[in-house]
Amino acid sequence: MRRREFVAATAAATLALLHRGATDGAAAAGQAKIPFGAAVRDGPLQEDEAYRQALVKYCQLVVGEGGLKWVDLRPDPSTFNFHQPDRLLAFARRNGMKMRGHTLAWYAAMPDWANAITGAAEAERELTTHIETVVGRYRGEIPSWDVVNEALSDDAKASVGLRDSVWAAALGERYIDIALHTARAVDPQVQLVINDYGLEAATEKAKARRLALLDLVRRLRDRGAPLDAVGFQAHLPGDLDIDTDGVSQFVADLKSMDVDVLVTELDVIDDALPAETAERDAIVARRVQDLLAAILSVTQPSAILTWGLTDRYTWVPIWYKRNDGHPNRPLPLTDTFEPKPMMQAIQAVVGG
Ligand code: G3I
Repeated sequence: MRRREFVAATAAATLALLHRGATDGAAAAGQAKIPFGAAVRDGPLQEDEAYRQALVKYCQLVVGEGGLKWVDLRPDPSTFNFHQPDRLLAFARRNGMKMRGHTLAWYAAMPDWANAITGAAEAERELTTHIETVVGRYRGEIPSWDVVNEALSDDAKASVGLRDSVWAAALGERYIDIALHTARAVDPQVQLVINDYGLEAATEKAKARRLALLDLVRRLRDRGAPLDAVGFQAHLPGDLDIDTDGVSQFVADLKSMDVDVLVTELDVIDDALPAETAERDAIVARRVQDLLAAILSVTQPSAILTWGLTDRYTWVPIWYKRNDGHPNRPLPLTDTFEPKPMMQAIQAVVGG
């Protein structure tokens, strides 16, 4: 699926949906399909047959939880190690799925040698060579890329707040333009995304981050940078309401600049939620429902991906383990691959 198809995959159905009132939900409209997918972990992909079956059963899209990050791809300056993404792409193709790319420029998951890059000329050369090589290898195979990940600092506010990174230190904000232009030149069809977190909750901090991101998008557009979409990572803090009006306004503001949206890393961080399973799962599903409704009240996201599919394999306990010892339940399937209310909330929207 090329970019135009990816973006317009459901265009006719979207129109139908809008005619009916977008909050009806895609399933209710009877035909709209928003591509749904999940981040895939490489080890279990090779070892866990039940995991593979669940991915095939539920997903039209996959993205590597790792594998395309610099730390995985670039052990040294002259090496590109494509084993993981090649494996995932083969799995996707065998099963009629598409694969997204994550990510080309990020402050984190960098090998030591790349963190030592200094000076504008060296940084630009390394960044463009990397993007040319990686996007070039998957040209025509990966229809959507997280070109820049987490460009905003954690406490970003309107007009200020670029995240520290090798790229920002050497090139300033221009690194984002360089990354976007390079990716577009290599694969003119690909959907180019900047992807960020902390945009969804009803807090002053999230509101400020939305404004900062809007300002960044506006500056990029004014400079003629080829940006197609903004990705909501949507690692939703379970104890915070979604700012539904704020999210809808943000999406409308992006659309007014002709920038699409998608949900790239959805999960619900449940360390501060009640222990009781049914109660916890219901809150998790409600956060997801609220976010998706807020987006859909304005437009149809070009895709919805969760960051993992099953509670068996999730990054959440690395940072947000529960104090009571109960396992986290951030994802649409249980650790034994049973669908949870979160899956129903997603399927109500994507149709499935
Ligand atoms: O590769 C080793 C493996 O050999 C070893 O057995 C295992 C033991 O814990 O560690 C493995 O590496 C870990 C890797 O995940 C594979 O699971 C790394 O230590 C760990 O740092 C890495 O964390 C990933 C993190 O990004 C940093 O790349 C998480 O899985 C991944 O979920 C997380 O994803 C990020 C997105 O890219 C950006 N948005 C936020 C999201 C969540 O933090």
